[in-house]
Amino acid sequence: MSERKILIAGNWKMNGLTKDAVELSGSIAAKIDVYGKEPECEFLVCPPTVQISTVAEIVEDTMIAVGGQDCHFAEKGAHTGDTSPYMLKDAGCSFVIVGHSERRANHGETDEIVLKKAELANTAGLKAIICIGETEAEKDAGKTIDVCKTQIGGSVPANATAENTVIAYEPVWAIGTGRTPTAEDVQATHKEIRAALAAKIGGEADKVQILYGGSVKPSNAKEFLSLPDVDGALIGGASLKADDFWAIAEATF
Ligand code: 13P
Repeated sequence: MSERKILIAGNWKMNGLTKDAVELSGSIAAKIDVYGKEPECEFLVCPPTVQISTVAEIVEDTMIAVGGQDCHFAEKGAHTGDTSPYMLKDAGCSFVIVGHSERRANHGETDEIVLKKAELANTAGLKAIICIGETEAEKDAGKTIDVCKTQIGGSVPANATAENTVIAYEPVWAIGTGRTPTAEDVQATHKEIRAALAAKIGGEADKVQILYGGSVKPSNAKEFLSLPDVDGALIGGASLKADDFWAIAEATF
């Protein structure tokens, strides 16, 4: 039996105003309360940057952790519009997502940049959720495993541990599309990702959580979350509804 706990993580992306963030985080906290005992999984929400402090205050005395959706690789300085991982930590975060495919595609983030972000996030005391995953063209060319291995090799810090790192496998073509790989494919890819991680950090790889992301919803959650090398989900659209987010978590109870 794996000692890895299941992590149910919501990436709210650029959605909602403060009132929505207040309602959503409050509703998730209320569901945990009603459940009446410590849920079997870990919870994380990643609100838009400007809502982090508000959400952090709401979930302060709950088991819900808060994360940023991105950070800069510099501690401080002339980087207009960017956010340092130290600022995220200061605002109440314990996690930060780095290398999401939307950052890689829309902001030209390379493995080198993602690596630097993960390293500084760790130094700042944040757990980095490092995202990897192939595009549709790469999938069609049979390159899924190669792409994931290259991204693990290039964007995971050499001193990554289960304490400071989570990996999220998110096939780009499955994000927001309603399409997903088969459970068999997800398990096979996660196994290869763990092997690539082991080549980099040794036996510690067995303790690192590897999340699946891409069109996770209540109806397919159990299928993915019961796979041996899937240790949680990074959820976009369905994390914006407390009922759906909770239903996905419930699939692990
Ligand atoms: P969806 O769950 O909306 O497909 O988004 C997945 C994702 O990108 C989470 O980071």
